[in-house]
Amino acid sequence: MKKFALIGQPLSHSLSPSIHAAAYHDLQLHGHYDLLETATEQVEGVIELVRTGEIDGLNVTIPHKVTVMPFLDAIDEDANAIGAVNTIKKVGDQVIGYNTDAQGFKESLLERLHIKTVRQQRILVIGAGGAARAIVHTLGKDGAVLTIVNRTISKAEELAGMYPFDVTNLTIEAAEMILNQFDIVINTTSVGMSSFTNKSPIKLDRLASSTLVCDLIYNPLETILLKEAKNRGNATLNGVGMLVNQAALAIEIWTGKKPNRKLMEETLVREVRN
Ligand code: ATR
Repeated sequence: MKKFALIGQPLSHSLSPSIHAAAYHDLQLHGHYDLLETATEQVEGVIELVRTGEIDGLNVTIPHKVTVMPFLDAIDEDANAIGAVNTIKKVGDQVIGYNTDAQGFKESLLERLHIKTVRQQRILVIGAGGAARAIVHTLGKDGAVLTIVNRTISKAEELAGMYPFDVTNLTIEAAEMILNQFDIVINTTSVGMSSFTNKSPIKLDRLASSTLVCDLIYNPLETILLKEAKNRGNATLNGVGMLVNQAALAIEIWTGKKPNRKLMEETLVREVRN
């Protein structure tokens, strides 16, 4: 029996065990995915369980994606640039950290648009926290033309200044005025989560009809932002694909096997609706 687990706090609402169980069942993988509520001072001890082989793979979520990094022997190049780790595996005698979140999002974005690269796509990223940093790194590396807006302007400036590729920052109001110049709009903030602020992070009055509007949030399946975009006739993308893909990519890292993403997605959507 392979043992995988998610560390974070709080974890009671996590839907990851269901999507992992669906994938393992389909792969005929004899595995179990546990939720390990982990306080900051327990993080090092749990990583030790990977070193000793008691746990075969770890996922990491809020608030430990940065905390785990000093306890690892090596960090994959993208995870290092993103500054966060969400997947851990022992390779040889080294415990290694990876990040599958942003790649998961990128794959769902490419699939939604039926394109192979985001090169030259003009993308507006709303937010400048950890999720935004992962998205900006991954899409910027692929040649997107990025603009960042954030409630706290200094954080948007700081994030835009971190990269060698085409990335600038604007105030939210300035971006609203030129919204028709973006091909893709991505909300990375928690604005729109049901238990959080139930509003839109940006006014869509000047949105072009061809712009794809994305939200990393998957619960609710349709945020106010996505509802407003859909009402205008725009295409939308929620965070379901990102959550499914990051899990699928983690399973690939741990086992070398490609899980059935469609089945994982159906399981996730069913769970969110319940
Ligand atoms: P994550 O890792 O999910 O990105 P984070 O690093 O805490 O989380 O970042 C949260 C992001 O959501 C930030 O961009 C934050 O804006 P500030 O930098 O101004 O704090 C944004 N955010 C959170 N609550 C918000 C709110 N009520 N209105 C607007 N932006 C909000």
